[in-house]
Amino acid sequence: MKNIQLGQEQEPDGQPHIPEDATAIESLSCEHRHIEAVVKSLQDAVAALDARQRLNIQKLRAVVEFLRVYADLRHHQREEGIFFPLLVRRGVPPQGCPIGGLNNEHEKGRALVSVLDKGITAYEQKQLGADHAVRQTLQEIIDLYRKHLWMEDAMVFPMAEKLISKTDDEELKEKFADLDSKIGSDVIVRLELFAGSLSFQAGTADFGSGCSRTTSI
Ligand SMILES: [Fe+2]
Ligand SMILES: [Fe+2]
Repeated sequence: MKNIQLGQEQEPDGQPHIPEDATAIESLSCEHRHIEAVVKSLQDAVAALDARQRLNIQKLRAVVEFLRVYADLRHHQREEGIFFPLLVRRGVPPQGCPIGGLNNEHEKGRALVSVLDKGITAYEQKQLGADHAVRQTLQEIIDLYRKHLWMEDAMVFPMAEKLISKTDDEELKEKFADLDSKIGSDVIVRLELFAGSLSFQAGTADFGSGCSRTTSI
């Protein structure tokens, strides 16, 4: 598998370059790099909350959209609905490690994003303890994704490469394209650009709306 990294082979618009002949597994790996970029920024958001800085609500809501649409509706559905079933057909057990565990983690991720969504509303309303709750949920999302992406990158994809034939790869790519057409390529491109540009680092502060002088990042 070619190792496609963000920041290495990029298109002029900042997107990672996916070669024409990329395999289905290389595409999944490339999606991991976009998700990883968002997760890395979320660690900055946690650090900002620890420093008692105010986070930008719009960015937080955009993170929820990214996790729901790009990470879950696109990437997890490619895995759960298309890639894992093929592995099962090639002899990998549907329950237990790794597929059962990975599907459970997808489910856990969905639940955490719902908690985050509600937490952002409380944070926006400046409810007591909402900053602590958002911080905790963000850290749980970070921890879950880091473990999950590592498991797939280091164990599942290398195993799958040994099981999947050229014909299987063509089938996967066709089904991935079908799923993408339902989501919309414009949505996918927009969310990948968002992943590459997201920053919660200090120094990217902007002033919140209204007369408040409170900065948010
Ligand atoms: Fe996954
Ligand atoms: Fe994945």
